[in-house]
Amino acid sequence: MLLGVTGGIAAYKIPELVRRLRREGCEVEVVMTRAAEHFVSPLVLATLSGRRVWRQEDLLSEERGASIPHIRLAEWAEAVAVAPCTADAASDLAYGRGEGLLAATLLAAEAPVLVFPAMNAHMYGNVAVQENLSTLARRGVRVVEPSAGALACGEEGPGRMPEPVEIAEEVFRALAPVHDLQGVHVLVTAGPTHEYLDPVRYISNPSTGRMGLAMARAAWHRGAEVRVILGPVDPAPCSLYGLEVTRVVSALEMRDAVMANLDWARVIVKAAAVGDYRARERKPHKMKREGREALSLDLVQNPDIAAEVGAKKRPAQILIGFAAETDDVRRNARAKMERKGLNFILANDVLAPGSGFASETNALRLIAPDDEELLSGRKEDVADAVWSSLAGRLQL
Ligand code: C5P
Repeated sequence: MLLGVTGGIAAYKIPELVRRLRREGCEVEVVMTRAAEHFVSPLVLATLSGRRVWRQEDLLSEERGASIPHIRLAEWAEAVAVAPCTADAASDLAYGRGEGLLAATLLAAEAPVLVFPAMNAHMYGNVAVQENLSTLARRGVRVVEPSAGALACGEEGPGRMPEPVEIAEEVFRALAPVHDLQGVHVLVTAGPTHEYLDPVRYISNPSTGRMGLAMARAAWHRGAEVRVILGPVDPAPCSLYGLEVTRVVSALEMRDAVMANLDWARVIVKAAAVGDYRARERKPHKMKREGREALSLDLVQNPDIAAEVGAKKRPAQILIGFAAETDDVRRNARAKMERKGLNFILANDVLAPGSGFASETNALRLIAPDDEELLSGRKEDVADAVWSSLAGRLQL
């Protein structure tokens, strides 16, 4: 992807963005305006991107002229992001000016364009700037609103460039080869639950929420609107940008949150590792060990959220469950699918190496009523493969 850097103080964060994009396998080529070089060094960006950095003097250089840099760059780019995008850069783009190398490249580019305006809050609020940004949005440019907060000039307000991790999420969405979940409402549960016994102790499991959140992010990249009911994971294993997240602690809270979103959802992915049992009575004070050689817990069963959704769902809704098994994976998973009214189940053997809880990779068996498919790799790649497989079957 092509990254246009213009002259705002937020440019100091761009090296981190380049690293992040590279880490996720994205090839990044940087075009800088002259003003941008005051804020971040071309050498830093060339080193981190592993490619040459294009500068203003390359546009009319006798040496480079033969390769027509702005045309070559525009043809190469699968997406173009301008970050930070100054008031000047937004104006150039809105008016279709082509004096600068970046501006000329943007005129020639046919790939999706994203801009990340970042400037003083008053400048951002100025009618001229707002009109330019509206013009861009109307023409199909993705204008990502700056966040509000402390600005470099000492003021507070809207004008902060989103963090590199957030910009990267927007770029991944723009680069997704298919947007086959455009507008589809996807509800995902992820993470463990904590079932408190007393104010300081709980029963839980090692789920990190990574697989569920990978499913949520991959759906968002493909254009879905995504809500996540997320159990206690701190810190979250990935960016939550773009996801509408409701945090819950216990299975009962998760159940209520899922039911509150049930009418909204078209596809429901139950990836949370929900605690099967909770204390019949949560003690108001910390249980003391003195005078107690052994301790028996009185536990009651939690509601099975997936089964409840399976029983209540409308025919057009699709319910996808996960099955973390330690033995007889396929048979147990198929039985679970029947019992809970699931349309699909993703089964994994949590005892197999490189699979299951707190692992970076996963090997999942996608089980449909009439066939099966084995998907393995990084959890993020597996999540994408799951959606590819499901979107083909579902006609969403
Ligand atoms: O725990 P179990 O193996 O039965 O989980 C299978 C599926 O059911 C998973 O998708 C899980 O998120 C869901 N589940 C649930 N509520 C529970 C237990 C499991 O929704 N109380």
